[in-house]
Amino acid sequence: MMKVCRRATFNCAHRLYRKDWSDEKNESVFGKCSNVNFHGHNYVMEVWISGTVNEETGYLIDLKIVKDLIKAEITDRFDHKNLNLDCEEFKNLNPTAENIAIVCWNLLRTKLDRAYGLRLKIWETENNIVEYDGID
Ligand code: NI
Repeated sequence: MMKVCRRATFNCAHRLYRKDWSDEKNESVFGKCSNVNFHGHNYVMEVWISGTVNEETGYLIDLKIVKDLIKAEITDRFDHKNLNLDCEEFKNLNPTAENIAIVCWNLLRTKLDRAYGLRLKIWETENNIVEYDGID
């Protein structure tokens, strides 16, 4: 099994909160991340594709395909957006790094050939990282 990776970055504003909780409860669970006027992150995403190397091309997958897929499905959709206010995907979903990983994985999985495995890793900050293998 071989794996290749394409890295991408995108910037978003968000607020962690649940509409069905009081401001006090949101504040106590999410702290500063629940700031009513939002805050931003420079997200770094690694998209790991697994599979076998094509004998003719020597590629597992042309990374240009992965680059274009990430642009179309992730960065064009989320970069410089307020996830809570601008993005349908998070209208009723708390935009934690975990949920962002799940949403991004599902968007990519739909468009990626089933011959490939898919794993995402997202840095929300330098020190806070999530990894998602998805459910195939
Ligand atoms: Ni945050």
